[in-house]
Amino acid sequence: MNETVKLHDKEFEVFIAKEEIESINKELADTINKDYKGKYPIVLSILNGSFIFAADLVRYFDFPMKIEFVRYSSYEGTESTGRIKQILGLKSNIEGRDLLIVEDIVDTGFTLSKALAELKSHGPASVKVVSLLLKPDALQHEIPIDYVGKEIPNDFVVGYGLDYDELGRDLPAIYKLKA
Ligand code: IMP
Repeated sequence: MNETVKLHDKEFEVFIAKEEIESINKELADTINKDYKGKYPIVLSILNGSFIFAADLVRYFDFPMKIEFVRYSSYEGTESTGRIKQILGLKSNIEGRDLLIVEDIVDTGFTLSKALAELKSHGPASVKVVSLLLKPDALQHEIPIDYVGKEIPNDFVVGYGLDYDELGRDLPAIYKLKA
């Protein structure tokens, strides 16, 4: 594994190793498996960032599930634009279903608060959120995040699905901007 990588104009250094991500995922799945025992939820991966996390996490789940994808976009470069730009819709009817939303990272919480409001309007039986990463210092919206993999400082990170202007999603570890 490379200790540093260059993406576009910026250098990044390893922040969360592949092995640590794996143990975070296992721990999250242990808790989620207990809560969803006997249930048949819709697991909703928020694209693009959560595709790798969702793919790894669902393989530790031991309950039946339907897997769906939606897409919102609020980022350009390393700063949130404060707007949701794109939506790729949900294919299933979620009314009366248990919904488990899978996010890669919650930063300001803007994307998730918009997504939650929209999804709740369809009348799901329950809504829970799992996010691999959370930046508590950046959070600006009151949103319930039921399962958090790891809280991180307010640094820009890439890898394991997360990008810097579309580069870096394929990196197996999580890197942060080099100081
Ligand atoms: P929020 O709306 O500010 O909470 O940001 C949500 C989305 O922005 C996440 O789902 C990511 O796709 C993206 N994002 C937030 N922080 C980072 C980061 O540090 N690196 C890469 N993408 C990020």
